[in-house]
Amino acid sequence: MKVEIDYSNCLDFITEKEITEETIRSISQLDKLVNRTGEGNEFTGWLDLPENASGDIEKIEKTAQRLRKQSDITVVIGIGGSYLGAKAVIEALKPPVNIPGKENEHEVLFAGQNISEEYLSVIKEYLSDRTFNIIVISKSGTTTEPAIAFRILRKLLESKVSNKAARNHIVAVTDKEKGALRKLAEIEGYDTFIIPNNVGGRYSVLTPVGLLPIAVAGLDIRELIRGAVSMVKNTRDNRSVTNPALTYAAIRTILYKKGKYIEMLVNYEPSLQYILEWWKQLVGESEGKSGRGIFPASANFTTDLHSMGQYMQDGERFIMETVVSVKEHSSKLTIPHDKDNLDNLNFLAGKRLSEVNARAEEGTVMAHREGGVPVTRILLPAITENWLGSLLYFFEISCAISGYILGVNPFNQPGVEAYKKNMFRLLGKPE
Ligand code: PA5
Repeated sequence: MKVEIDYSNCLDFITEKEITEETIRSISQLDKLVNRTGEGNEFTGWLDLPENASGDIEKIEKTAQRLRKQSDITVVIGIGGSYLGAKAVIEALKPPVNIPGKENEHEVLFAGQNISEEYLSVIKEYLSDRTFNIIVISKSGTTTEPAIAFRILRKLLESKVSNKAARNHIVAVTDKEKGALRKLAEIEGYDTFIIPNNVGGRYSVLTPVGLLPIAVAGLDIRELIRGAVSMVKNTRDNRSVTNPALTYAAIRTILYKKGKYIEMLVNYEPSLQYILEWWKQLVGESEGKSGRGIFPASANFTTDLHSMGQYMQDGERFIMETVVSVKEHSSKLTIPHDKDNLDNLNFLAGKRLSEVNARAEEGTVMAHREGGVPVTRILLPAITENWLGSLLYFFEISCAISGYILGVNPFNQPGVEAYKKNMFRLLGKPE
């Protein structure tokens, strides 16, 4: 089994020949990326992360075990690329509710991904009678949102245990030398992990930024990396039309040129919601610049078919759709027979929910295609650490290639500074 692309539902809009030609053209962009001759090449360290991760793994696992032992709750503080990767993998793999009595449960909360007084007050109240760990993540070490959350939660922690003991509960993930967080970690003697210089935030899920919180949540980071390694072979090391990342980049490029300006990434498994959020950051910050770029949007189906479904079927025709389609499901739940059959659903009795969900997906794909929306399906064998590792690396590499095809630097984000400037001016920040 492998992650595959099914573009059969795009063929009313583009031809096989167009896809093959664009895929062949994109090999030169892959070369640029791999040979480090493209724009932003100083931030392409992520390309080799799956193979280079092994050095960090043991230390990450040891630290994760220590944190899990000393408390049953960890707050991960970070935003953007220092938040979404961990959140995405944890949400995908942890049950949506804690199963009572299940051993080794460890709760992971997130903070610092907004400046909401309501949000942080609730977190603070929840933690008020508990001892907790903090993993604070910031590459620059100066980002406002996590810095505020860290100030508040660190004070709370220090009010419960001594300052000295609090040190054992705090781990900082930051730059090797620069930034306020590095400085503070050195003064306080926190355990630290380094975010490599050559890896930007949104490409950092396979560094300690993603791996440490994922390991603390009790998930298997070795499998995640193994999955990424297998995708390296299929993509980074594959200069042929069989490279799925090139095919996907080619399809979205052709569709974009034909006026499909919005890409709606959708799932039929709610646990993948934050994988979609992670992808939106990846694509939005990598491609959206110089007045160009596909607008990345997302939807959770079938839930959002009851809200966005009308627009998808019938609204402006500037949308392409990409479905993350999960093949195998580990849970088993069948629909029961009902003697009264008032809802007329006895024809479904005995069927698994996954079968009904699969038919909903099939029917929606057909309807959207007929309604003028080209649909690409990314076939994901299952939601496991291994397959998610493959999927994340697949998206990273196809996004970088798409950026190069578009003619932008996929590794900078000059646009995100504008709001900060205004915010600081309005808050009266001294020069
Ligand atoms: O992708 C990026 O570079 C950004 O989204 C950053 O990850 C985000 O702004 C957080 O930055 P930092 O890790 O420096 O706090």
